[in-house]
Amino acid sequence: MKIVTTINDWQIIRQQLTGKSIGFVPTMGHLHAGHISLCERSRVENDITVVSIFVNPTQFNQGSDFQLYPRTIEQDKSLLVSHQIDYLFLPDAESMYADHYEVQVTETALSHELEGEFRPGHFTGMLTVVLKLLNLVQAARAYFGEKDYQQLLLVKKMVAALFLPTEIIACETLRADDGLALSSRNSRLNAAQRQKAAHFPHLLQSDAAIEKIIAQLQALGFKVDYIADQWQRRLGAVWLDDVRLIDNISIKKE
Ligand code: PAJ
Repeated sequence: MKIVTTINDWQIIRQQLTGKSIGFVPTMGHLHAGHISLCERSRVENDITVVSIFVNPTQFNQGSDFQLYPRTIEQDKSLLVSHQIDYLFLPDAESMYADHYEVQVTETALSHELEGEFRPGHFTGMLTVVLKLLNLVQAARAYFGEKDYQQLLLVKKMVAALFLPTEIIACETLRADDGLALSSRNSRLNAAQRQKAAHFPHLLQSDAAIEKIIAQLQALGFKVDYIADQWQRRLGAVWLDDVRLIDNISIKKE
């Protein structure tokens, strides 16, 4: 696996890859089996797979969440090598934001709902960095998880609106044996919180009405940002102490 740490080096390499189909998996690192499932799909569908790790400062709401975001780069590198990834792109914040974040990509409708209501500015930071990364990598296909469902919809919308040539591929959410969606933030849960966390996907999947699910979560000690039915999904965001978890399931009627 080639590790590329500057934008300039990447652009030289990218020119040499002309003619090959590139699959791209953007991440913020602390990689788990969910990320790897996107990588595996990319490997099957493309000649070359590029993974990026960039903990994007502009999409975090609290400085503390950014500071505490788990960074395990050596472990991530070994995992990617063992999954035969071709390129790991590791840009730094100064080069990604040479404009001091004075140029931003904002979506004005979807981005205010659900997550947007609780995380102002988050989706602008996310879309801005994803556009930068898509422009740099120039992939045939880029892989996004349904775990972050609103993010997936917004990326698809941006790609269509700005006529970007990359196809966005949606990948199913990978879960632990007890049903909790894999997430880099799960490692911030202590043993008791981790055990309790599994109630969240279970209640989301139950047939109960939304108000009942919220009441049950609260009784268990979760703080609930929202549980809502949208886009043929039931989506939710909850806090266990200072760790925020999001999840969603399909509620499409067959
Ligand atoms: P990150 O949270 O690292 O996630 C990278 C990709 O992995 C996203 O597309 C996410 O939806 C997907 N993913 C995470 N957990 C998953 C799971 N359990 N099953 C399947 N896919 C999963 O999402 C981001 O980073 C950032 O916002 C990013 C797009 C990289 C922009 O900074």
